[in-house]
Amino acid sequence: MSTGVIVPAAGSGTRLGEALPKAFVDLDGRSILEVCVAGIVDAGIADSVVVVVPVDLIDTARTLVPDVTVVAGGAHRSESVRAGLDALGSDYDIVLVHDAARPLVPASVFRRVVDGVRAGHPAVVPGLPVADTLKQVDPSGSSSAERVVATVDREVLRAIQTPQGFTREALLRAHADDSGLATDDAGLAERCGIDVHVVPGDPLAFKITTPWDLRIARDVLAETGKVHP
Ligand code: CTP
Ligand code: MG
Repeated sequence: MSTGVIVPAAGSGTRLGEALPKAFVDLDGRSILEVCVAGIVDAGIADSVVVVVPVDLIDTARTLVPDVTVVAGGAHRSESVRAGLDALGSDYDIVLVHDAARPLVPASVFRRVVDGVRAGHPAVVPGLPVADTLKQVDPSGSSSAERVVATVDREVLRAIQTPQGFTREALLRAHADDSGLATDDAGLAERCGIDVHVVPGDPLAFKITTPWDLRIARDVLAETGKVHP
């Protein structure tokens, strides 16, 4: 079975607040996008990689990651994923969708996700147990002191990461009816009745969203000197 990887990297990085779109921000002399693509290549699971970037940064991206396909994304993440799916074509039985914003994912996570799909699951996502106590609040109240409605049972919850792996057929079905509400590809799959399974994720698969996350990612790289263990 052959595997294609789509890397959505077309977001603007509003919450990060840097001058450049997030995927083009520097980590260790290399951009987040370069470190992410190096991790995918090092994992040795990809027969083809398609990176999806803002339209005005296509040429820049082609210079940064010359060995992969680069196409333009859309206004929403799911549109960018569909642009990646179109560019990937129909030659791949397994398709992984992996956020550029998670550049430090270890090879073992890629392997677990691919192995899960190869084992017969149509959709496989990496996830971690939740460490914090989780409380449901009444969002209609004051944002300075929200009233607690309930404490949620965290034992049955998982924080979901990427890469998310699918049979090509499942991912196409998931994206055929996107009304824009799901926050990940597996969410789209669930909504059309596709079984989604969770395999163990990894703390290094965290998403760079805020300046704090960027600092952690830079520190990890500076300390280990090597990523994707
Ligand atoms: N993404 C994309 N196309 C979009 C929006 C997001 O390809 N229209 C990608 C981002 O580049 C990122 C991944 O989806 O790799 C996860 O999105 P997120 O972390 O929300 O990144 P941004 O949308 O860039 O950040 P923000 O929401 O803070 O603006
Ligand atoms: Mg976003």
